Amino acid sequence: MKPHAGYQLGDLAAQLWAGDGVRCLAEMAPGSIDLVVTSPPYFVGKEYDTSTSIIDFCTEVRRAIPAVRHVLRPGGSICFQVGNHVQKGSLTPLDALIVHEMMRESEFVLRNRIIWTFGHGSHAIKRFSGRHETILWYTKGNNYTFDLDAARVRQRYPGKRHYKGPKKGTWSGNPLGKNPGDVWDVGEIWDIPNVKANHIEKTDHPCQFPAALVRRLVVALCPEGGVVADPYMGSGTTAVAALLEGRSFAGAEMDPNYLSIAEERLSALVEGRLRTREDVPIRLPRDGEAVSQRPPHFR
Ligand SMILES: C[S@@+](CC[C@H](N)C(=O)[O-])C[C@H]1O[C@@H](n2cnc3c(N)ncnc32)[C@H](O)[C@@H]1O
Repeated sequence: MKPHAGYQLGDLAAQLWAGDGVRCLAEMAPGSIDLVVTSPPYFVGKEYDTSTSIIDFCTEVRRAIPAVRHVLRPGGSICFQVGNHVQKGSLTPLDALIVHEMMRESEFVLRNRIIWTFGHGSHAIKRFSGRHETILWYTKGNNYTFDLDAARVRQRYPGKRHYKGPKKGTWSGNPLGKNPGDVWDVGEIWDIPNVKANHIEKTDHPCQFPAALVRRLVVALCPEGGVVADPYMGSGTTAVAALLEGRSFAGAEMDPNYLSIAEERLSALVEGRLRTREDVPIRLPRDGEAVSQRPPHFR
């Protein structure tokens, strides 16, 4: 296989393959990748899903894991993003029941199960509406990269001080910010907004990561100048996040329409015209501004 398209941004390179991502990983040099961030199709009826069967999900993940192991360097990481499989109202949490068992068999070590919550989505009527997905972060071995300082976020109350004990009166928070924790709220205005209809990053891909979600993983888990891969890259968000954070990228997409979206996003990035959520300040209602009001008949 040969890359379909290549992009250069200073010393950084992004290579995009057209076709099967697992084959693409298997053909890369062993140990050549520092971090894989990916969301495989999980067969829930999206446009790109070829079936709705859990068996097909298992087959695909079982096929992908050895290729990921081959391509990751010792100490490298894989972040697997999945949600629930839903069939006839019955839920199967794919991360815990399927992905984790297979990753453990392949001797990957689970470091975090990150809950990614968002405020919007379809409204269920026979159960509570689903508002989270998960990212399973595994390492290949124990000597792994984790740069917590690069991923710290601002404290909600940065001016807090110790109120008793020998440190009484001194600042209690880390001046570099706090550990973001393992629940990432993409619906909250101070964290990572989800990619919904009017989001600045929205493309025609039905299932896009917010770039900021991947950027947090990249800065914490991939050394500067390292290489990130995504074998199911969709609209190319992992590629965008890698280049924005000073890492190179290699990835594949099977659907030519989505591949074109990824190519356009990378062209825009290298030409300096790509916009991401951080470029757009969050607008809060001004004092006295009319915002939607509770209708009188609501309880
Ligand atoms: C959940 S989406 C990924 C979305 C991506 N994270 C983004 O931000 O746009 C999964 C993608 O995998 C692609 N795909 C499915 N099977 C594939 C395969 N064997 N090789 C490469 N891509 C595949 C689908 O077309 C789809 O775009």
